[in-house]
Amino acid sequence: MSVASKLAAGIPKSLLDELRAEGGPFEDELLHSLSHLPAATQVEPRRAVLAMPEYHPPLAGRDALRLDFNENTVAPSPKVFAKLQSLTAEGLTIYPERQPVERIVAAKFGLNVDQVLLTNGVDEAIHLMACAFLEDGDEALICTPTFFMYDVSIMMMTPGLKRVQADDSLEFPFERFMAAITPKTKLIIVASPNNPTGTTVSREHLLAIAKAAPQAVLMVDEAYFHFHGDTTMGDVGNVPNLIVARTFSKAYGLANLRVGMVAGDARLIGFLKKVSSPYNVNGVALAVLPEALADDTYLQWYVEQIRIGRERVAAALKELGVRSWPSAANFVLMDIGKKHKQLCDVMRAKGVLLRDRSTDPGCDGYVRITVGVEEQVTRGLDGLRASLKEIGWTPAESVLAQGKAARGERDYE
Ligand SMILES: Cc1ncc(COP(=O)(O)O)c(C=O)c1O
Repeated sequence: MSVASKLAAGIPKSLLDELRAEGGPFEDELLHSLSHLPAATQVEPRRAVLAMPEYHPPLAGRDALRLDFNENTVAPSPKVFAKLQSLTAEGLTIYPERQPVERIVAAKFGLNVDQVLLTNGVDEAIHLMACAFLEDGDEALICTPTFFMYDVSIMMMTPGLKRVQADDSLEFPFERFMAAITPKTKLIIVASPNNPTGTTVSREHLLAIAKAAPQAVLMVDEAYFHFHGDTTMGDVGNVPNLIVARTFSKAYGLANLRVGMVAGDARLIGFLKKVSSPYNVNGVALAVLPEALADDTYLQWYVEQIRIGRERVAAALKELGVRSWPSAANFVLMDIGKKHKQLCDVMRAKGVLLRDRSTDPGCDGYVRITVGVEEQVTRGLDGLRASLKEIGWTPAESVLAQGKAARGERDYE
């Protein structure tokens, strides 16, 4: 390769264009070299990939009190960590085997092994659902605001994503949701409890949705199940088009190991297995998962901490005049108004991370706070009180206090 070719290969095209415009000693040779470069920039992905949104959660600079991502804020069961430390170096060289652990998980839920699939977090489960069940042009149905990965995975397959927007109550709009089901609906995803709202959908409503759309798969995302308690897991197998997802990232505290699961009709689970990698869950996660599942004492302790903390957060917000929504999850959504970003910045400076949800549909001015264990709730609330004072916040600034008309918004259809 000549020096000019090497140069041409290393220079961004925009710079080459500039060089070409200016002229210069290497111009002819450079242009000749450029004409022989592979046309990498002309490669296009599927149209859907160009159209799909991207999800870039703010992961940088999180060495603080993490009340921003709804993770477990402490540690998993000590038994998980003990198991982790017993793993061998040679163990890392072996491809992971999922099925023995799927057997344990299936037994825990009273299911057959072919009704269960372990996934690389619920994120991957959502991705697999979209891959397995959506064709370009199919419709998929979600209720917004909700977990953004539904948008990402669905739009990857089809532009036919229908979003039914909740009203100011942020409650699940059951009637409007049912009315949005059409013969083209192939996938429905409902989170209960929902993120970022903390609201729930009753089992009766979920079963009614599954019944109204027999041509579609209904995925009930129970990522926050443990902080609530209601489930459709018992309906797996009886409702042929139901798939229930659970994560080990939240109550179990394994977000960094990336492990979740789906349970459903064996035929449907078979399609998901077909589109998943046989090694989708790493061996470290597989090794510790049985320990996590077996330690009910730890789980009960953590969930109880969250339930108590959630009450404390709700009470403190009421006292401060901050409007919030009743939550069945490990977080609470607050209506701050225009100073939403200022609040998050000031809290961050005090070492407490919150999550600004202002760009979620219908959430302009809303901020989410994750509930931690006792002393973390105390620190979080102390920080919040001080920060609201520092930014001179008053309850009149909340979005809902100002009314929709003042915000120039219309009622959702
Ligand atoms: C509703 C919901 N589903 C799924 C997930 C992702 O879970 P996982 O860590 O298992 O991918 C989240 C994470 O915040 C969530 O809020």
